Amino acid sequence: MKVLPFYWKSTHLEILDQRLLPSRVQFIKCKTAEDVAKAIRKMAVRGAPAIGCVAAYGMALAVQPTAKFKPLKSRMGRLKKAASLLKAARPTAVNLAWAVDRVVNTVEGKKTSLFQVMTREAKKIEQEDLAANRAMGRFGARLFKMKKNVVLTHCNAGALATAGHGTALGIIRELWRQKKLKKVFVDETRPYLQGARLTAWELSQEKIPYELITDNMAAHVMKTEKVNGVIVGCDRVAANGDTANKIGTYNLAILARHHKIPFYVAMPFSTLDLKTKTGRDVPIEERSSDEVVKMGNVRIAPKGTKARHPAFDVTPVGLISGFVSERGVFKPRDLLKQVPRKGSSRPPRRAT
Ligand code: MRU
Repeated sequence: MKVLPFYWKSTHLEILDQRLLPSRVQFIKCKTAEDVAKAIRKMAVRGAPAIGCVAAYGMALAVQPTAKFKPLKSRMGRLKKAASLLKAARPTAVNLAWAVDRVVNTVEGKKTSLFQVMTREAKKIEQEDLAANRAMGRFGARLFKMKKNVVLTHCNAGALATAGHGTALGIIRELWRQKKLKKVFVDETRPYLQGARLTAWELSQEKIPYELITDNMAAHVMKTEKVNGVIVGCDRVAANGDTANKIGTYNLAILARHHKIPFYVAMPFSTLDLKTKTGRDVPIEERSSDEVVKMGNVRIAPKGTKARHPAFDVTPVGLISGFVSERGVFKPRDLLKQVPRKGSSRPPRRAT
C-alpha cells in the first residue's frame, strides 16, 4: 500500500489520522509518549499490531534526549509513567502491553543510550510485524484450493492496522496476487465503520474486487454468494484459543458454522496472550455511546437514547477452523504446541 499507518522520523513519530479516511490523508506529528497515547485512545491509529508498534516508539519518545541532561532516576520515572499511560490507552489488544514491555526490557540495567536502544527495538518490532504479515499471507493463501475464491472479512486487519501489510488482508492480498480471488465481501463494521472506510479504501487502491455489505447482510450473502472462507484478525487470543476481535466477529463465526464455511483467524504470535486463560478473562473495551447514536456527526437516534458500545467480542475457540500465523496454519487444539517452552532451545513444532 502506498500510504503507511505511521512512520518514524528519527526525533518524532508521524501517525496517519485514520479517522479522516477515506476523505483525507493527513498525519499527526507525535513528539511525546502522551501524543502517541492520545492518538491510540482517540483511534487516529488502531488495529492491534499497529498500536503495539506506535506504542513502542512512544516509549522511546519518553526518554528523548534533550539539551538538558536528565538524571537516570527521572528518566526511569518517565518511562514508568509512559508505560502505564500507553498501556491504558486501549485495554483489549494485547499487542499494546506486549510491545511496551518488550521495549522496556531492552533498557533494563542500562544507564545510557536509552533512546537509541529503544528506537532500535521499536524498529525491530515494526519490521518483525511486516515479515509476520507476509508469512501469514503465504500460509493463509494455501488454505484456499479453488481458483475463484469468495471471502468475507470484518473490520480492518489490513496495512492500516499493522506495520503496513495486513494480517487477514495480507492473506487476501496474497490470494489476489496468486490470481485465486474472485471477490471480497467487506462488512461495513458498525459503529466505527472500519470496513467501509478503511478496508474498502485499501482494496480500492489496489483494485482488488470487493463489495461492501452492512453487517446484517452477512447471513444472506453467505447463503447466496458462494462465500468459501471468512478471514478476520484478532486483538487478543487467550491461551485456550478463544479470540477477541472487533464487535460482530462472534456473529460471523456463528453464521459461518451454520453455513459450513471455514472461519480463519489471522494471528501473529504477538497477539497470543498465554497469561489470559480464556475469553472470559479478556478485558472488553466499552467505548462512548455517542459512537453508536451518531454516524459521523449526524445523530441517528433520539436525544437521550441509551446505547451500549462494547468495541470487541469473543469468539469461542470451537467456532474457529484454524489460526493462520507467521509459523504456519494450525488447528485450535495445537495452539499451545506452537509456543516454545521456557528454557527450551527446540523450535516449536512445525505447523501444517
Ligand atoms: O477498534 P479497532 O479498529 O482497533 O479494532 C481492530 C480489530 O478488531 C482488528 O481486527 C484487530 O485489531 C486485528 S488488526 C490486524
